Amino acid sequence: MIKDRFLSDIRSELDALKLNGLYKSEYEIVTSQSSEIEIATRDGQKKVLNFCANNYLGLANNNNLIEVAKKSLDDYGLGTASVRFICGTFDLHKTFEEKLAKFLGFEDVITFSSCFAANGAVFAALLDEQDAIISADLNHASLIDGIRLSKAARYFYKFDDMADLERKLQEAQSAKNRLIVTDGVFSMDGDIADLQSICDLAEKYDAMVLVDDSHATGFIGEDGRGTLQYRQVEGRVDILTSTLGKALGGAGGGFIASKKEVIDKLRNKSRPYLFSNNILPAVAATGIEIINMISDSKVLIKKLADNTAYFRQKMVEAGFDIRDKNGVHPVVPVMLYDAVLASKFAKMMIEEEGIYVIAFSFPVVPKNEARIRVQISAAHEKEHLDRAIAAFIKVAKKLNVIK
Ligand SMILES: Cc1ncc(COP(=O)(O)O)c(C=O)c1O
Repeated sequence: MIKDRFLSDIRSELDALKLNGLYKSEYEIVTSQSSEIEIATRDGQKKVLNFCANNYLGLANNNNLIEVAKKSLDDYGLGTASVRFICGTFDLHKTFEEKLAKFLGFEDVITFSSCFAANGAVFAALLDEQDAIISADLNHASLIDGIRLSKAARYFYKFDDMADLERKLQEAQSAKNRLIVTDGVFSMDGDIADLQSICDLAEKYDAMVLVDDSHATGFIGEDGRGTLQYRQVEGRVDILTSTLGKALGGAGGGFIASKKEVIDKLRNKSRPYLFSNNILPAVAATGIEIINMISDSKVLIKKLADNTAYFRQKMVEAGFDIRDKNGVHPVVPVMLYDAVLASKFAKMMIEEEGIYVIAFSFPVVPKNEARIRVQISAAHEKEHLDRAIAAFIKVAKKLNVIK
């Protein structure tokens, strides 16, 4: 039986989180994911403009994709009821993987139930105690956890400090294989990794490079091929991991792209693939359609870039402290530093202004770097952006954040 002391310790911990503004509560959304949504409140439902989804291309409730998903439900049912290698591989899985590999310019792709699972799979399956992983310090939690599962030696470099990376590569020279690991986009800041320098150093020190492009696949780079395209390092990155849970529809799922042999080894050795069900047939079917859509038209990618530039410029003009004022990513961190202030700011934005934004504080971001992370979407119209900017200014004045 669960012990009273165990529960009372948990209660104290939760109380401390609340006291320090670090407690994370969840709003319930009662509509589909979009730029305009309704959330459940104590008094019923409230319409809000959504500025915190990873719905970068606005595809999460796209009618065409919903029809494709419905057809796949008719044709294939709910799911595989099996892991892939037993009897859970549909033709849709193979078609999607081939299409995605071709789109991204890699030899092969393997899908997983999430990018968290993909990142949990890749290191333990490919590297052992003779190898070394050199990881950016701000990498996503799933990379950090995945790296922990591998027996390789671990080195950490400051994500934007190439001299530090070089030192760590020198320290790791005796390892059989070296793998540099970085987020393509550091999602709390919207910073795009300096992949040119990383690939140069990888070549100099005979290392491989893995990029997690979850916050870039589908919309960063002229054709949406992500940070590798944006930084012009296509063909120089060895392993790419990414998600289907953000720009590519938002339903859920992840993948790894690399050389055929690497993917084949992952199919045979990676535990989250061997011991867990894969993406739903509806996700594979919509994934195929999304790659067709992005390949045929750049309209959504362009609209997202234009929306981002407009919002960033207006917020800087209004006097907000935007991390990386020259940034181009649709993640726009509005820095408030204090966790209690950030959480109060976000609450007022939602409850008084009808703008759904969320405060991020420790441990998701470093201590004393609390912020509201705004996320722009191609689903936003200019009128949505203007309403959000006006609301930011109004709340900031009330809270003495700007004059
Ligand atoms: C950089 C990065 N990698 C991986 C993930 C995990 O993605 P998924 O939701 O597919 O597990 C996320 C999600 O927040 C992410 O931001």
